[in-house]
This record gives sequence, structure tokens and C-alpha cells, in this order.
Amino acid sequence: MSTQSPCLKTVITGEYPVLVRRIAARIAELVRFKPNAVLGLATGATPIPIYEALVRYHRQEGIDFSRVVCFNLDEYYPILPASPQSYHHYMQNNLFRKINCPTWHVPSGEAASQDMIEEACHQYEMQIQNAGGIDLQLLGIGRTGHIGFNEPGSQRHSRTRLVNLDRETREDAVADFGSDKDVPRQAITMGIGTILEAREIILIARGEKKRTITQLAMDGPVVAEVPASYLQEHPRVSWYLDGALENNLPQLL
Ligand code: F6R
Repeated sequence: MSTQSPCLKTVITGEYPVLVRRIAARIAELVRFKPNAVLGLATGATPIPIYEALVRYHRQEGIDFSRVVCFNLDEYYPILPASPQSYHHYMQNNLFRKINCPTWHVPSGEAASQDMIEEACHQYEMQIQNAGGIDLQLLGIGRTGHIGFNEPGSQRHSRTRLVNLDRETREDAVADFGSDKDVPRQAITMGIGTILEAREIILIARGEKKRTITQLAMDGPVVAEVPASYLQEHPRVSWYLDGALENNLPQLL
């Protein structure tokens, strides 16, 4: 007899601003219900309006983040936290300097020895565990099918670690870094195993260029070549697809 919990695939489609409102409302609801909630957060272009909506919840409705603990998925390596391209800087700028959440973590991208990196990654995992595990993990999806910076080939049980970035991922970062040679070749990322331990997962995919990979992730085989496909094994994941994907994915509706 199988004791595995059933995997519920929830698909929410709509125009991007509607998805943003729904996701922000879900996060606000969680924080109201559990003031010491542990949130897993993503960076990139897609979540910025979600963070703007959370700032509005804080300023206009008094949502209190003072006991919330946040863990970000990833950080470039090597990079200094103060660098304008760092995810540390992104989170500070887009969210944490605008809400009352003093406890937030982004993996350190500061250059260190191999041993120090491994120890810092282990500590990151311990911090998540000590906080009680992640209640809600927000994810985007990369063109390579990555979640966090788990590029194709990432293993189901991988943990926080140093990884190499794929060519497409580095190409997508050129706009932020100014030139190809300035884009870091590596990053520190939570592992697939770390992400799948979150109690609830929300993935948001926006735009035509995510269409094929999102379809593969949702409905294709669960394989290391499409890291987001591992989410099919999670019991509580919601896929939020914007209009560009909705129109092109009739088989998912
Ligand atoms: C960022 C992250 C990445 C992004 C993905 C999509 O912390 O973990 O997996 O979510 O690359 O990025 P955007 O939203 O810029 O398309």
C-alpha cells in the first residue's frame, strides 16, 4: 500500500496583475494567520510586483512582518552583498527596506574557500531547519527549467550548494550586469531537496519565452533535465500562469 500523499496540481491562469494580486493576498493571509511564518523568496523580474503589493499590504493594511523569517533561494557567486546586481541588494531594495521584517537571509556570495562555501551552505540549511522549515516558497522558472539556480542535471535530493550557471541563464543576466564577461559563472542555490521540503509552493511563470519549459515542467516526465518538473512530486504546489501561457497551453486548462 502506498503511503505517499496525493500530489495536487493547482493551475491558476489569468492576466499577470491578477496573478500578482492573488499571490500577494495568499502571502498576506499566511502572515496574518501565522505571524512567525517562514517565507522562501525568489528574485528576478517576475516577483517584483508581488513585493510591491506586499509593501502596500504593510503600509495600507498594517500587515506585520516583524516576526516573519525569510530565506532567499539563491545568490550569484562571487558577488558582494552591496553590489547593485546582488540578490541581497535586490531584496533590500525591493522589499526589506520597505517593510518591518528584520530577519531575512540571502546565501552569501562573498568569495571564500571551497571549505568555507560548503560550511556556509550547510549553515543555511540549518538556519532554515531551526526556523521550523519553510511554510511557503515562492518560485519563478528559468528558461532552462531551473528553480532557484538548480540548472538541468540537478538531483532530486540536492541541498544548498555552489553551482555553475547555464549559458541561457547567464545570457538572461547580461542586461543586469552590462556585459557577458561581467556575469558570474556560478551561484549558491538552495537545492531541489531543500525547495521540496517547503510546505506550500507557488510558482509563477510569465511570458511567451517560458511557455515550452513550463509545459514540460508541469506535464512532461519528472527528470533532472527539467529541474522544475520535480515540483510534480510536491503535494501542494500552485502553478500561476499568465495570459501568454494561458493562451498557448489549452491542454493544461
Ligand atoms: C531567482 C531565481 C530564478 C528565477 C528565474 C526566473 O531567485 O531563483 O530561478 O526565478 O530565473 O527569473 P525571471 O523572473 O527574471 O524570469
